[in-house]
Amino acid sequence: MQSKIDQYTSEIQAFTAAKAEELEAFRIKFLGTKGIIKDLFEQFKTVSTEEKRSFGKVLNQFKQLAETRYNELKENFDAKPAAQQAGQDLTLPGDGFEVGSRHPLSLVRNEIIDIFKRLGFVVAEGPEIEDDWHNFSALNFPEEHPARDMQDTFFIRKGEGGDDIALRTHTSSVQVRMMENGKPPFRAIMPGRVYRNEAISARAHCFFHQIEGLYVDENVSFSDLKQTLYHFVQELYGEGTQVRFRPSYFPFTEPSAEMDISCTICKGAGCNMCKYSGWVEILGCGMVDPNVLENCGIDSKKYTGFAFGMGMERIANLKYVIRDLRLFSENDVRFLKQFQSEII
Ligand code: PHE
Repeated sequence: MQSKIDQYTSEIQAFTAAKAEELEAFRIKFLGTKGIIKDLFEQFKTVSTEEKRSFGKVLNQFKQLAETRYNELKENFDAKPAAQQAGQDLTLPGDGFEVGSRHPLSLVRNEIIDIFKRLGFVVAEGPEIEDDWHNFSALNFPEEHPARDMQDTFFIRKGEGGDDIALRTHTSSVQVRMMENGKPPFRAIMPGRVYRNEAISARAHCFFHQIEGLYVDENVSFSDLKQTLYHFVQELYGEGTQVRFRPSYFPFTEPSAEMDISCTICKGAGCNMCKYSGWVEILGCGMVDPNVLENCGIDSKKYTGFAFGMGMERIANLKYVIRDLRLFSENDVRFLKQFQSEII
């Protein structure tokens, strides 16, 4: 029995615990209700009376040693951080965590919204599945207009006499909904996804995103339109960006124009983004055609307005020099990660 105690004594003295479970195992082994010490005390009962005195002393010393060692280690242990108690190596480098990023189209949309909000514009939205009236007829599209053709429009239902249901081909439909449901003045921008039946390539896609603006009030003139868009471009692409307006045609605006800006990539010197012209087209605009106002129940003698519409992909292409439209919808993380530092 003495030799056993000697062996346990050196075991206890050498014992250290790296983990909480090890210390607990130690307690159970030596000090537990079915532990070694309990067992030794049981055996002590069988020891001869002569030996009891000396052996009792040894046994009590041994018990004390085990208890002291346990308490010592426990105190030490409780003072350590939880990770270390669990036996983890605190000197290892930490696990990094992945940060998400905003999609470039969201960045552009938020930035555009921000600029127009400061001018008092609100954001309006409408459905992506539209009827013929809101997408075409109310916007003054003649019956035989090529944009109504199957080639451009994804029809969901071909009905009789203007009863078609289609995926909207532009966000101008939201203008109609807004004007039908409210009273002037209107000052809103309408961001959203639009669909056109085109073959997918680097330069065309079957869906893209537009942001459209509408301003209707008394005495709104073309100079308001020019000044608003000029300000917008200075805010978005920086002071000194040049603009020019070219006459154009849209069924829902009269007069109509397309607006070009000096190429943001080469600053007008000529590059393949601007096809060496120094200018890039960014939006269509014009004065809301009086027919459109009347179609929406607005007195065109009292009110005038301007509207404009742009493709967000185009704006993003110029801002971030993205040359393939398909990148916007492929969700390739290598592409998306590049926008991690952008915050708007
Ligand atoms: N809806 C037109 C388009 O899809 C853009 C536009 C909007 C032009 C408003 C003028 C006024 O191209």
